[in-house]
Amino acid sequence: MSRLIVVSNRVAVPQAGGKAAAGGLAVAVNAALKDRSGVWFGWSGRITEEPSDRPVVTNRNRIKYAVIDLKEADFQEYYNGFANRVLWPILHYRVDLAEFQRADLSGYVRVNRLFAEHVSKIIQPDDVIWVHDYHMMPLAKYLRERGHANRIGFFLHIPMPPPELIAALPRHGEILGSLAHYDLVGFQTESDRDNFGRYLSTRGGQAGADPNIFDIAGRQVRIGAFPVGIETEAFARRARHAGRTNYVRGFRRSLAGRKLIIGVDRLDYSKGIPHRLEAYEALLRTSPEWQDRVTFAQITPKSRIEVPEYIEMDRFLSHKAGQINGTFGDVSWTPLRYVNKTYSRSALAGFYRAADVAMVTPLRDGMNLVAKEFAAAQDPENPGVLVLSQFAGAAAELSGGALMVNPHETEGMAAALKRALDMPLDERRERHERMMAVLLRQDIDQWAESFIEALMPPAVKPVTAAIP
Ligand code: F6P
Repeated sequence: MSRLIVVSNRVAVPQAGGKAAAGGLAVAVNAALKDRSGVWFGWSGRITEEPSDRPVVTNRNRIKYAVIDLKEADFQEYYNGFANRVLWPILHYRVDLAEFQRADLSGYVRVNRLFAEHVSKIIQPDDVIWVHDYHMMPLAKYLRERGHANRIGFFLHIPMPPPELIAALPRHGEILGSLAHYDLVGFQTESDRDNFGRYLSTRGGQAGADPNIFDIAGRQVRIGAFPVGIETEAFARRARHAGRTNYVRGFRRSLAGRKLIIGVDRLDYSKGIPHRLEAYEALLRTSPEWQDRVTFAQITPKSRIEVPEYIEMDRFLSHKAGQINGTFGDVSWTPLRYVNKTYSRSALAGFYRAADVAMVTPLRDGMNLVAKEFAAAQDPENPGVLVLSQFAGAAAELSGGALMVNPHETEGMAAALKRALDMPLDERRERHERMMAVLLRQDIDQWAESFIEALMPPAVKPVTAAIP
């Protein structure tokens, strides 16, 4: 069986004692590597002035975790600059927040070339390569330049906007156009896939009978929708167990019988946290019977803390949280608990199970695994209610069970919150069952297998347009 080589910006290297950091991307990649031998290559998360030209390798089971350090200039230009101040906002439809600088694009290209140089030394002819996320878009191009004809797939964990928005990215052809060097490019939803299909069409790639296959410069690239799932059964088990721990029981006790609304999001403007807090404020104002009967716990770990838009968001949210508590709170009731801490997956599973309502209301999100994990964590006999934005990728799968909202409409979200808090048990059970049926069918293993299977078949190679 061929090896799987995974490449992503961050790598969840297992810690001593068997524990690994496990965000959405890490859980997904681990599922892909679980039953295979392979390598996971990426950035160590460290900055050094003289990075070694050899990766640091950790062996666990049949997997090699290989990581390199980056220089300060790489970190600033590639990660803080082009990836997170240009690609991230544009792909999340926030062209207004993009700050393009040529030096940052050079840094992005330089780090992608550096990754290609390292990965090139690892690759064997029958390895299958799977590249993840917006940090690494041109990687296949640089591997092809080095003569690697392996099957190479790319999966975008975040949204893909329509071509009219992509056009706002200076030199987009060099970056997004270079995705045509992969054999398979996967997206979270059909609408993301179709947006990219329209983009490829504008660049001269000709679709044949199958609208998801493009012939570009003598290569075939296939595009597809592969919605990321979760480890549904394992997460449900974890939540059952965590719900019984002293930690989670203590949290529940501290609510003194009040209902719990929960929000869990990395600090990011795409998550719509201010809009959500406005809606909670509107609920407390327009439905005063809920005052002192509900607590909102908003858990918001920080990342990308050097990027100005994130610094601004951090300030705004702290101010907003203080304002809500100052206006509505009492000596014995804090309406909003705003916490910038990172919790373990087990603790989060327990919090989800303890909650009556989850607010997952991004302005734009590739998938949003909090929505899926919240649903999986519920007690089927007495489940909580998911309030979900129509702009999360998860909406395509969970709209049958969640209360769907438009995060731009405060009154609509406040009304959905009230409905969720008042929802009778029968309706909660029915909605939960509908979501669980989807989550069990389309779990993380099914996601990894279906992508790898689609990546495997050999390509036929008619010649047409030139790849940038
Ligand atoms: O899912 C999008 C993503 O950017 C992942 O690639 C990344 O691991 C995660 O969000 C967290 O972002 P960061 O690595 O910038 O903290």
